Amino acid sequence: MPEAHTHFARTTITAALPYTNGPIHIGHLAGVYVPADIYSRYLRLKHHPVLFVCGSDEHGVAIPMKAKKEGVSPQALIDKYHGIIKKSFADFGIAFDNYSRTSAQVHHQTASDFFKTLHGNDDFIEEVSEQLYDPEARQFLADRFVVGTCPKCGHTEAYGDQCENCGSSLNATDLIGPRSVISGAAPVLKNTRHWFLPLDRYEGFLKDWILEGHKEDWKPNVYGQCKSWIDDGLKPRAVTRDLDWGIPVPLEGAGGKVLYVWFDAPIGYISSTKEWAALEGQDWKPWWQSEDTRLLHFIGKDNIVFHCIIFPTMLKAHGGYILPDNVPANEFLNLEGQKLSTSRNWAVWLHEYLEEFPGMQDVLRYTLTANAPETKDNDFTWKDFQARNNNELVAILGNFVNRVTVLTHKYLDGQIAAPGTLTENDRVTLTEIREYPARIGNSLDRFRFREASQELMNLARLGNKYLADEEPWKVVKQAPQRAATILYVGLQVAAALAVLSEPFLPFTAQKLRAILNAEAADALPGWDAIASTEALLPEGHTIGETQLLFRKIEDSEIQAQLDKLEATKKSNAMSESQAAPQKDTITYDDFSKLDLRVGTILEAEKMPKAKKLIVMKVDTGIDTRTIVSGIAEHFQPEQLIGKQVTVLVNLAPRPLRGVESQGMILLAEDKDGKLVFVGPDGTPVANGSPIT
Ligand code: 2FM
Ligand code: ZN
Repeated sequence: MPEAHTHFARTTITAALPYTNGPIHIGHLAGVYVPADIYSRYLRLKHHPVLFVCGSDEHGVAIPMKAKKEGVSPQALIDKYHGIIKKSFADFGIAFDNYSRTSAQVHHQTASDFFKTLHGNDDFIEEVSEQLYDPEARQFLADRFVVGTCPKCGHTEAYGDQCENCGSSLNATDLIGPRSVISGAAPVLKNTRHWFLPLDRYEGFLKDWILEGHKEDWKPNVYGQCKSWIDDGLKPRAVTRDLDWGIPVPLEGAGGKVLYVWFDAPIGYISSTKEWAALEGQDWKPWWQSEDTRLLHFIGKDNIVFHCIIFPTMLKAHGGYILPDNVPANEFLNLEGQKLSTSRNWAVWLHEYLEEFPGMQDVLRYTLTANAPETKDNDFTWKDFQARNNNELVAILGNFVNRVTVLTHKYLDGQIAAPGTLTENDRVTLTEIREYPARIGNSLDRFRFREASQELMNLARLGNKYLADEEPWKVVKQAPQRAATILYVGLQVAAALAVLSEPFLPFTAQKLRAILNAEAADALPGWDAIASTEALLPEGHTIGETQLLFRKIEDSEIQAQLDKLEATKKSNAMSESQAAPQKDTITYDDFSKLDLRVGTILEAEKMPKAKKLIVMKVDTGIDTRTIVSGIAEHFQPEQLIGKQVTVLVNLAPRPLRGVESQGMILLAEDKDGKLVFVGPDGTPVANGSPIT
């Protein structure tokens, strides 16, 4: 589908509205926002009208749940994360025309009107059905408010709307052994009235539009998911919820009910457009309602059904709206071999990255693009991040720009000379530069961002190879005019890089323009004009000051990141270790039979021929006695001497390998099976003190 946009007058680009229940991480950036930003910047450079909108998704069960966890109100939570997320996007150069939020008045109005229109057209089924209800918290348990065992894979922590283990989309009533997240109570079934979008009525439309109409141009992962949804048989989907957080259902007698978050969120793209139009004094309608507008949704794979089936059905039912022309969804990014997870803190958070690698946004943008999870899930590793930076950005792109500009200052006082007679290699190189806008563009038009980023790097390679072949630093001694011509050709490559790198590396492109003294937008030709321009930087032009585009990343910086992840792993393992179930209850009298005392280990030695046993002499305050304990694999005898521990002194003595053990020392075992003593915390206590 080369240059699909040329069939349209304008393109509306949406990027999934992130939930405001946490900051954003590299997975969000790689899957959605970087590709969406690259594509919109690319179209703008081609002078195609683009509107790029996004905003915060502030509804849904996840918000009140997280608010409860953080001990704040839902409003405080969304305000906090809306600010953090919006700033991260700006920091990473994600150049939205508008970043809105679904708590905005314009959105409440737009979503309510949308619902009312569908309701007025009889597009909903109204139905009373049994839903899970928490009798203790006295509320219905929508979506994530209920967990239980997944009927498909047996995962015991599946949510009421989805199993994160096998990815199945579920109904809360499908869960086996459901329990309320609010109170832990077993839910009961209770009748409640809801509005359903009858997807089954749209099967014919969806088959024609997707299965027939987009077989060739939609990505196989997207097309495949849609096909399997349609082939499985579409069912009516509830578009309302019993919840007190969200947009109230705008109907008489619907108190206590709100629009389902997946009903209102995609309408957020339209509201964001309206907000932009009001600010800019523009009309929002052409961007959503003109047949000559191309609509593109950039999303992650977990959002495919909502953007390809449910939202288009809503738009179709409403009437007057265009449908997405493409939905270039990505797969998932993992981090060092494990699934990214907000709740398990297994992520590289954008705001933290910037603190640790200040000014290095483009390095992350580039790494995530070069390694994007385009056709399958992919892994982000810090070693790869370092290699992409050191071996590509520094060694190829940065090195080339540095060499050509430093030499221009050194030999020519920074001024581009008129080229002399061009050699075959000069001509081939100049011709090849002109092919790059189409090469990179062809990949972008197919949403192949990895390939496009490699084409860009190939242009820098071309420059590097040209300089290495021509060796102006040697030539200059005998033939300064020839050296000037070589630098002229080299600078044309640098100028093309300044334009063509902009979608991928916007901060670097800006820096490179400054180095070339070509900061004004019209100081260099546009994307397409590169193909037909003889000299991108004309003779006589004086370049600006040289500065390094990238810096090397040291092993120690990478190790620091790996250590941080290792610490997260450990802390997760501690908190995830399953405690053994509680034993049967005992009476106080039972407990008081145990005589627990503080004692000090006086002597300790390994028992000969017994791998695990240590024989100790312990001062219990009552006496000095022998205790044998199976701790030899965890402690060296000399570590034990002088240690204060808790001793069960009235345990019946028993022989161990012929030595009588006269008590027991209390120990705890961590998840990895390592033993630690349970006893005084280091403050000396008199031996024999009872533990009560
Ligand atoms: O998965 C998510 O993070 C959702 N908040 C995406 C919503 S996309 C759109 F429809 F708003
Ligand atoms: Zn499952």
